[in-house]
Amino acid sequence: MSDIVILGVFVADTAYRADRQPRMGETILGRSFALGPGGKGSNQAVAAARAGGRVTFLSKLGRDTFGDMAMDTWAAAGVVPAVERGETPTGAAYIFIEEGSGDNAIIIAPGAAAEIDAAFIDQHAGLIGSARVFVTQLEQPMQAALRALTVARKGRAITVLNPAPAAELPDGMLALCDYVTPNETEAEALTGLAVTDLDTARRAGRALLAQGVRRAAILTLGAQGALFHSADRSIHVPAFDAGPVVETTGAGDAFNGGFAAAVAEGMDPEEATRFGCATAAISVTRPGTAPSMPDRAEVLALLGR
Ligand code: RIB
Ligand code: NA
Repeated sequence: MSDIVILGVFVADTAYRADRQPRMGETILGRSFALGPGGKGSNQAVAAARAGGRVTFLSKLGRDTFGDMAMDTWAAAGVVPAVERGETPTGAAYIFIEEGSGDNAIIIAPGAAAEIDAAFIDQHAGLIGSARVFVTQLEQPMQAALRALTVARKGRAITVLNPAPAAELPDGMLALCDYVTPNETEAEALTGLAVTDLDTARRAGRALLAQGVRRAAILTLGAQGALFHSADRSIHVPAFDAGPVVETTGAGDAFNGGFAAAVAEGMDPEEATRFGCATAAISVTRPGTAPSMPDRAEVLALLGR
């Protein structure tokens, strides 16, 4: 049995650093290029495993070199794969990183993982239903996420939805979620409320609970840290400073993986939010997404334990 089951997407991240993005029809010279493992679900699985969780990752891959990269990444991190490999190629993400600000813009083509459907989820219902914590995002088809959350709830797993990338959700989906973890943009997509500060984050948190979220909405706020918002507590967790910021891509994934690992070991969810924030803080001091996830000892050291 795995404590944590994560459904999601692996893609190869192709990250370009340049002073700006090219305009349509234009070619510009970049400053650097890096190829590495990515995809929100896979990044979260790596973060959770490095943070000490026992993690199974559920997905589809191609039988190609990017698929091999996925298998190597999980083996190194101790993530157990529950994957089907077929003829459709593994996907990739174009990541533009602006030199100077470090801000990013991403196009993700999920490839084989776009074929994850409800039938695939049903084949793995036993695995999902026996999880202590189940986590998913929205890079694979929505219907698969919906079905998996339904199966996880039936099995009494604690369910976490990272609603990324931003999307409208089917009716009733949030009522299947114990925790929902949007960033500012995603919170706005779900609630229609612009999130610009703690006050507006609280308002969005209230709206998400009103839409059915069972335990808490946890809004990740970049340099502002996170807001943990439940019916009886609304707590701001400031961001940790783990050193100069190198690349923020995947910071949300670090948060979600760290949070899931902490919840799976029985930590109070507010404390797990701090654990997630510390995980994210370390990840942004390093290049890449999955390769930048810290191990448990590093997170505990930042938390002063
Ligand atoms: O959250 C960061 C991830 O989003 C990247 O690894 C990229 O693959 C995109 O899916
Ligand atoms: Na990083």
